[in-house]
Amino acid sequence: MIGASGAVGSRLMRRLGEQGHRVSGMHRSEDDAVPIRDAGADPVRGDLVEDSVEDLAGLMKGHDAVVFSAGGAGAGGDAVDAVDRDGAKKAVDAASAAGVRRFALVSVFMDAWRGDESPGEGFERYMAAKRAADVHLAASNLDYLTVRPGTLVDDAGTGFVNAGSSVGYEEIPRDDVAAFIAAALFSPGLNRVAIEVTGGSEPTEDAVAALQARPYA
Ligand SMILES: NC(=O)c1ccc[n+]([C@@H]2O[C@H](COP(=O)([O-])OP(=O)(O)OC[C@H]3O[C@@H](n4cnc5c(N)ncnc54)[C@H](OP(=O)(O)O)[C@@H]3O)[C@@H](O)[C@H]2O)c1
Repeated sequence: MIGASGAVGSRLMRRLGEQGHRVSGMHRSEDDAVPIRDAGADPVRGDLVEDSVEDLAGLMKGHDAVVFSAGGAGAGGDAVDAVDRDGAKKAVDAASAAGVRRFALVSVFMDAWRGDESPGEGFERYMAAKRAADVHLAASNLDYLTVRPGTLVDDAGTGFVNAGSSVGYEEIPRDDVAAFIAAALFSPGLNRVAIEVTGGSEPTEDAVAALQARPYA
């Protein structure tokens, strides 16, 4: 898990652990090792900016999947380019080099914050960084799942989502994003696809099962 100390990553790490998966949580600060361990995962030190592709590949070796839920938006424009764009690209290349086939990328819903309420130029840079990462992943040889959530909110999870290749834009609680990825990560059939996911009215497990039955719907 890349972004294990983050709001989505920490929730997802806990859920995957509850499902019986052994999870490694990548962190930068030594302090973050404690909550990662408390969540039942193995902390591993790593940094998407400082570490090389080879360094990251070394951390990934032996894992069944990599989940990228890191982001630099909180730290501003340069961090967005360094983490969300270049860091994601490095992680994709590292997964390929390490022989990890499955890669889930937390991307963004391209309709988010459009119109009058658009937060401006920094946001467009963020969207461009996310798109560049998506493109790089889709051009890789990995078995990928790109997840495009609507605007993330900290409300309690509902257990319900709306998910598909194209769905209407809505917000989504971070808990529900984590639950969706936990359900979809090892779903056969959800391979080399990008899925939009928002708050909705379909139980998460049912939504994933429906996507498996018709992954391009
Ligand atoms: N906000 C939204 O509405 C929205 C909507 C759609 C998608 N997203 C995307 O959803 C994802 C998760 O969001 P979130 O709210 O969980 O973000 P978050 O809480 O800000 O977490 C970001 C994570 O990225 C890690 N990170 C930052 N720089 C790093 C680096 N150089 N190397 C390794 N890890 C680094 C952070 O670690 P540290 O603790 O060490 O900083 C943290 O674990 C992000 O990719 C975001 O772009 C957000």
